[in-house]
Amino acid sequence: MRKPLVAGNWKMNGSSASSKLLLDGILAQAKTFPSIDVALFPPAVYLPQVQQAMQHSHIRWGTQNVSSYHKGAYTGEISATMLHDFNCNYVLIGHSERRCLYAELDLDQLVLDRIIAEKYHMAITEGLTPIVCIGESPEEHAVGKTEDVIGRHLDILIEHQGVKALSQAVLAYEPVWAIGTGRTASPEWAQEVHSFMRERVAKHDPVIAQSLRILYGGSVKGNNAAPLFSQPDIDGGLIGGASLDADEFVKICQAAQAKI
Ligand code: PGA
Repeated sequence: MRKPLVAGNWKMNGSSASSKLLLDGILAQAKTFPSIDVALFPPAVYLPQVQQAMQHSHIRWGTQNVSSYHKGAYTGEISATMLHDFNCNYVLIGHSERRCLYAELDLDQLVLDRIIAEKYHMAITEGLTPIVCIGESPEEHAVGKTEDVIGRHLDILIEHQGVKALSQAVLAYEPVWAIGTGRTASPEWAQEVHSFMRERVAKHDPVIAQSLRILYGGSVKGNNAAPLFSQPDIDGGLIGGASLDADEFVKICQAAQAKI
């Protein structure tokens, strides 16, 4: 049985005051989801606040991005080593909003893929659990390219680090057309893609594929989490908007808890 994981991606939202309310609200109800893993991804400046609030709970934390370099003249970047200072366990890699920012810099697809694979490598060598986000764009979805796109992303990760590295990672299927749009993938659709992902990994290593956690992300809310999480290959969620509301986020965590 894979342990469900619910990850809250705050994106660039909040203040010290609103983060305190959010953290207090989640903490007060943490006993209602005791057997799942939960991780919060605040903007990096609020990491110490999250660390302090959550240090005695089972809730963990991490960052929304990490540098592919160790240290040096990389203005604005944060290294995986630095994350140890805040006891981070997780890091998000390749979120579509990050991929878009890179695309704006006109990086070609191969360069972008390499950077994401390097960040993944960096996280793993530093003992962090990367949550690698992959998903098709609305255009790719419309022309039925989902499996091509997802398959390509998985192949790159496996090619770059070997399939064994996936035993230290989590994958998140995040269809770009569902992120922040209120248009959630149906549980059946998400299950089909998750199962495709697991089978793709199983071709290289069936044992790792079986234990690999694959999250769904894209407009997950308190009222649609349960049918998604009840699918056999959906092991939890990566939550954006709904992770900013304590009660809503707790409802999602409880839906994951119900899977156990
Ligand atoms: P959303 O975001 O839940 O607001 O759709 C998900 C994500 O970007 O990870």
